[in-house]
Amino acid sequence: MINVALPKGRLGEKVLKIFEEAGYTCPSIHEQNRKLIFENEETGVRYFWVKPSDVAIYVERGAADVGVCGKDILLEYSPDVYELLDMGMGKCRMAVAAKKDFQDNTSRPLIVATKFPNIARDYYMKQGRDIDIIKLNGSIEIAPILGMSDVIVDIVETGKTLLENDLCPYEDIVDISARFIANKASHKFKYDAITALTGKIAAYVEGKK
Ligand code: PRP
Repeated sequence: MINVALPKGRLGEKVLKIFEEAGYTCPSIHEQNRKLIFENEETGVRYFWVKPSDVAIYVERGAADVGVCGKDILLEYSPDVYELLDMGMGKCRMAVAAKKDFQDNTSRPLIVATKFPNIARDYYMKQGRDIDIIKLNGSIEIAPILGMSDVIVDIVETGKTLLENDLCPYEDIVDISARFIANKASHKFKYDAITALTGKIAAYVEGKK
C-alpha cells in the first residue's frame, strides 16, 4: 500500500485526477462525505486529504509515503524529504509587493509582512538589507495598506489580489509549482512501488507539456 498525502483544495483535486488517470483509482474518495482517508486495496493506494501546508510534515514523518506540495512550503520549511518531480502545475511566484508609491528608506530596517519568514529572511540577507519581519497567517496584502509593513513577501498567482488592493509587485523572488515528494525511508523500502508511481506521474506530466 502506498500512502499519499493530497493537498485539500483545487490543486489537490487536479492532482487526484492525475493519480487516478495514472491507474491509482480510488472510487470511495468520490463519495460525498467528510472522511479524510480513503483506500483501494486493488490499486494499492491510500489517500489522505490534508492541509496543503501540512503535506510535507506527513511525508517527512512517514505517515505518508509520498505527497504533493508547493515549492514554497519546501523552501520555507526545508523538510527532510526527496523532491522527485516538478508537476508543472499550481504555478505561481513568490514576490515582493508594496503600495504604488513605495520608496525604500534604507536608513532603517525594511518592515516585511509575510507568511514565509525564512524565504523573506534569506532573500534580503543575500541583498544585505536589514529587515524586521511581521509573521502573518493570511490576508497579507492588508499589512502595507494599513501602514503596518513597508512591503509583503507573498505568493502571486494571477496578480488580481495585488491589483484589487492597489499594490504592485516589485521584485520576483522565485518561481513556484507543485512538487511530488517522498519520505526518505519509504523511498528505500517501497522503492519499486514509488518508482512505478513516479514514472507514471512523470509520463503524464510530460505529456501535458
Ligand atoms: C494567496 C496569496 C495571495 C493570493 C494571490 O492567498 O497569499 O493573497 O493567493 O493570488 P492572485 O495573484 O491570483 O490574486 P490565499 O488564497 O492562499 O489566501 P491567504 O490570504 O490565506 O494567504
